[in-house]
Amino acid sequence: MLSNSPAENGKRTSLHGNWTSRMAFILAVTGSAVGLGNIWKFPYVAGQNGGGAFVLVYIGCVLLVGLPVMMSEILIGRRGRRNPIVTMALLGEEEGKSRQWQWVGVLGVLAAALILSYYSVIGGWTLAYVLKSGAGAFDAADPDTVTAIRDGFLGSSANVGLFHTLFMAVTIFVVARGVERGLEQAVRFMVPALFVLLIVLLGYSINSGYFGAGMSFMFSPDFSKLTWGSVLAAMGQAFFTLSIGMGAVMAYGAYLPEETSIGGSSLAVAIADTSIATLAGLVIFPLVFANGLDPAAGPGLVFITLPLAFGHMPGGVFFATLFFVLLTFAAWTSAISLMEPAVAWLVERFNRARSEAAMLVGGSIWAMGIATVLSFNVLAEFTFLKGTLFDNLDHLTINIMLPLSGLFIVLFAGWVMCRNSTADELGGVDLAYKLWRIFSRYLAPVGILFVFLQVSGLLDLFGGTR
Ligand code: TRP
Repeated sequence: MLSNSPAENGKRTSLHGNWTSRMAFILAVTGSAVGLGNIWKFPYVAGQNGGGAFVLVYIGCVLLVGLPVMMSEILIGRRGRRNPIVTMALLGEEEGKSRQWQWVGVLGVLAAALILSYYSVIGGWTLAYVLKSGAGAFDAADPDTVTAIRDGFLGSSANVGLFHTLFMAVTIFVVARGVERGLEQAVRFMVPALFVLLIVLLGYSINSGYFGAGMSFMFSPDFSKLTWGSVLAAMGQAFFTLSIGMGAVMAYGAYLPEETSIGGSSLAVAIADTSIATLAGLVIFPLVFANGLDPAAGPGLVFITLPLAFGHMPGGVFFATLFFVLLTFAAWTSAISLMEPAVAWLVERFNRARSEAAMLVGGSIWAMGIATVLSFNVLAEFTFLKGTLFDNLDHLTINIMLPLSGLFIVLFAGWVMCRNSTADELGGVDLAYKLWRIFSRYLAPVGILFVFLQVSGLLDLFGGTR
């Protein structure tokens, strides 16, 4: 059994090594944050909710609620220096409260594993589209062809399963190599690459002739479209996109060097994440308008509308492939952060080798993913509560587990941990600290509770808004 007591200087050290620099940590959390949520979901949710007005509210949610929660999660992670379950137990005890706070860690690790089980299936889908677009499948294709390609892919459990397997294999590969040689190497390459790909695609979009239309769609605030429902949607999106409330960022915080500023790093991540989401919108909407397509196409935007748009543009085969490579990278760096908490737990708890733990965790999550694979074909007709197995998994994790564990995390940092402990991690009592404390004690919990009650359907304040 490993010792969990602090070293002589009163600080525990990570059992998995540390990020080699502040930059590496920022890239890792950015890699986790930037995912399908930014490139696929943000643009169309923003479009459906009044564009500019929604974007303003969303930025407000990121800064006022997202940022304090992210800081709380990182500071808990760094102080505990263990996997989220043990960290919560240790800190609960050290703060003179209960070890039972470990259940918040359990909730987070479980939720992350559940999310990964379907995130990997969607990640596999993007991987499959790299090959399809590379082979020219969408070249000059009409809507029927593009829809048929998607239905043909999703309809085959063998195909979806194969790419889910491939995606999970590369995720296991990275996590198995450890914090410095795996996670850090992957994000050092992929996060900047992602940014460059996005800029290249932005150039392409600007040339489409419809950049102005895309800009005004995203940024002209139409406050008449802003409802309470959109405010809640903005808050939910802020949570999911920042990867908070799930132990992923907490696990990453455990590897953060002592002297690195938590507030500064969190702010950098929030800015990077929001910029990438905005850029994605500026890439996607001009293409949509240039081809006379529907900007509010919803979930089909990335897999139907975009291949269609690229298929009718010069250099479309190349740029479509590039786009799906980008999306695969984004999903991949998020997936590793979803696997890390469970792997860290297994390594620490059972003293397993990291590679073995990664295979065990990855294998189990892969098996759970089969439920999602089948939801698109064999079990497509098998629906209950919110829809297919996949729909239920999505609802349970994103709308219930995520805000719930986020709420407990921020309450723990704001109310359970004493002022000395949090001030110690956040670098002393200054203005930023005071702001963090007010936000994490009052504003963030109230905001989260509000969203939780609404999206979970426990409180239908505004008449069926989702
Ligand atoms: N933030 C990622 C996205 O935008 C998804 C994600 C990765 C996530 N890790 C997470 C969400 C942890 C919640 C918790 O696609």
